[in-house]
Amino acid sequence: MSLDVETPPGLSKHLLGIEGTTREQLELILELTDRFAEIGKRPIPKVPALRGRTVASVFFEDSTRTRLSFESAARRLSADTLTFSAGSSSLSKGESLRDTVEVISSYGADVLIVRHSMAGTPQRVSEWTNASVINAGDGCHEHPTQALLDCYTLKQQRGSLDGMSIGIVGDIRHSRVARSNVLAFSSLGAKVTLIAPQTLMPPSMGNWPVEVSNVLDDVISDLDACYLLRMQSERHSKGLIPSLREYAKDFGLNGRRCEMLSKDALILHPGPTNQGVEITAEVSTDPRSIILDQVTNGVSLRMAVLFMLLGQHETSKQDEVQE
Ligand code: NCD
Repeated sequence: MSLDVETPPGLSKHLLGIEGTTREQLELILELTDRFAEIGKRPIPKVPALRGRTVASVFFEDSTRTRLSFESAARRLSADTLTFSAGSSSLSKGESLRDTVEVISSYGADVLIVRHSMAGTPQRVSEWTNASVINAGDGCHEHPTQALLDCYTLKQQRGSLDGMSIGIVGDIRHSRVARSNVLAFSSLGAKVTLIAPQTLMPPSMGNWPVEVSNVLDDVISDLDACYLLRMQSERHSKGLIPSLREYAKDFGLNGRRCEMLSKDALILHPGPTNQGVEITAEVSTDPRSIILDQVTNGVSLRMAVLFMLLGQHETSKQDEVQE
């Protein structure tokens, strides 16, 4: 298998957000993901594409899926990995973010995968290092690889997002996943409806290409896909919703609402789920749920992104992805 792909313009070094990407670039990443998904099915799911390259995960916020899937992606591509955890680092001794980035870069990292509670941090980091930078979630701003793996998962199920009606339900105001997904889904031709109480809508949606509803029951039967979000309690002060119980009653996907969803609709969630709030346990295992496919596809998608940013040059170019 050979992956002699052209790096699309604008994605030559960093992946900081979906904003600013073109439909052509998104489609190219999804196409490449298909080829990496094939590698994942082999008895030994490993290729030498990034041999000699170092991938550093630099996480200042907790993560399970994003971090593990980036690390598995790096290992499947034969890259070396470095892991930085804010909790056990010299940050607690007063070291600055910039010093930390410079130290990690000087260990030879070729790419820094950055998650931080402050919007814009991956962009700042890219100014302090020669390595590539991937945004793995910055505050309420963007989470581009989550959006890409969601697009890939929908495309895998339906062939294309063109004309799909996708509802994003929940704490849109504080969700980086919602922001990246609005941009990615609409760029690929889907019609997006944001569904939330008014207090959980962003104060300004600028020229987002979306429709808006404050009543899930009014729109649920028209959806081809229902994308649920976790309440981002760590990012807001109290008072935005009367209580989680009230929220679950009006916006949670439960057995009754699931019956209102079309029989062909798809149910997605980026995880971690808060069962009993935005989703009930019975819905997580509904045959229309593709939540586990999202997790599985996260690895192939992140292999594609790492390869696209790092695999086009020098040493790894000769190796390509062949066996
Ligand atoms: C999301 C995140 O961290 O933004 N999780 C993830 O990356 N899978 C969503 C969330 O935390 O709710």
